[in-house]
Amino acid sequence: MIDLTVLQKIADALHFIPFSWILFDFLKDILIAILTTGPAPKHVGFIMDGNRRFAKKKALPLKDGHAAGALSLISVLETCYRVGVSDITVYAFLIENFNRSKEEVDTLMTLLRDKLKYLSLYDDSYARQNQVKVRIIGNRSMIPEDILEDLEQVEQITNVELLLRTLNVCFPYTSRDDIVHSIQGVCENGTSKANIDVAELYRNMYMGPESPQLDLLVRTSGHTRLSDFMLWQCTHNCKIEFVSTLWPDFKFIALYSILLKWSYYHKKDIMNHRVNNTPPDKVVDITSLPAPPPFATVTGN
Ligand SMILES: *[C@@H]1O[C@H](CO)[C@@H](O)[C@H](O)[C@H]1NC(C)=O
Ligand SMILES: *[C@@H]1O[C@H](CO)[C@@H](O)[C@H](O)[C@H]1NC(C)=O
Ligand SMILES: *[C@@H]1O[C@H](CO)[C@@H](O)[C@H](O)[C@H]1NC(C)=O
Repeated sequence: MIDLTVLQKIADALHFIPFSWILFDFLKDILIAILTTGPAPKHVGFIMDGNRRFAKKKALPLKDGHAAGALSLISVLETCYRVGVSDITVYAFLIENFNRSKEEVDTLMTLLRDKLKYLSLYDDSYARQNQVKVRIIGNRSMIPEDILEDLEQVEQITNVELLLRTLNVCFPYTSRDDIVHSIQGVCENGTSKANIDVAELYRNMYMGPESPQLDLLVRTSGHTRLSDFMLWQCTHNCKIEFVSTLWPDFKFIALYSILLKWSYYHKKDIMNHRVNNTPPDKVVDITSLPAPPPFATVTGN
């Protein structure tokens, strides 16, 4: 197994050579082109963890750690969308984060607002150039009014027709709050008990019915927990990847290897399904199989 951090370090070191970025962009284009020949996840979630530890490790002020994280996000968006991902959901702010120092909460909020504005306000901003619709997912009543106003402006300005891509920014969000919100929505609607089902709850989630199923969830910085993120959305088809890289260090090679792995296993699942007719990722209990049909034709119909 190739150690990817070593590869990334070599890549970082070579960056100091003049014009090396031309070579890197070229290699990147080739790698992305290779990946686009296989299946790509439609919807990817990221728990962007490690900004604080990054700042501590480099003895930087906390806000520089968060700023480095924001840069990382832009590069992740770029790679994912180019590979064919249509929806990206990021965990920007947990409801529990309100318990951090006021200074940090303010930093996180203003940074998020500024980065989203930078991503979308101008004609040549990334989101508008690449037809990315930005949506705020979470309990809006917890966001200070001035910040919310700006965020809603970002939503409006990126919400034009024929959008190909979505960026869901979970802010302030927890999955349990989302589920409570959904149940409240169902009740408000006067849905009778008999009509409450998975689809009805899905429709009432903050993310709404138009959002595709989550295919891949990535958490950086080594913690192996979901921290109340997309618990409902992580269904049996969702692959979860925990990587030890801190979010600001989470660069092209690390992301690429995860996408490649997903594509490989997904393709394998599809092939298995075709060859054995077993559902992907499921062990078949032989005793539970139905009786064989009375006869079978080779050609089918
Ligand atoms: C903040 O911390 C207190 C005490 O630890 C806890 O009771 C409270 O629920 C927390 N609030 C949030 C929003 O997480
Ligand atoms: C959203 O936040 C408000 C204010 O903190 C709270 O009263 C409300 O219960 C929350 N909504 C949900 C669905 O949790
Ligand atoms: C109420 O139910 C209808 C029909 O299922 C649905 O279209 C609508 O979005 C629901 N409204 C809310 C607020 O959930």
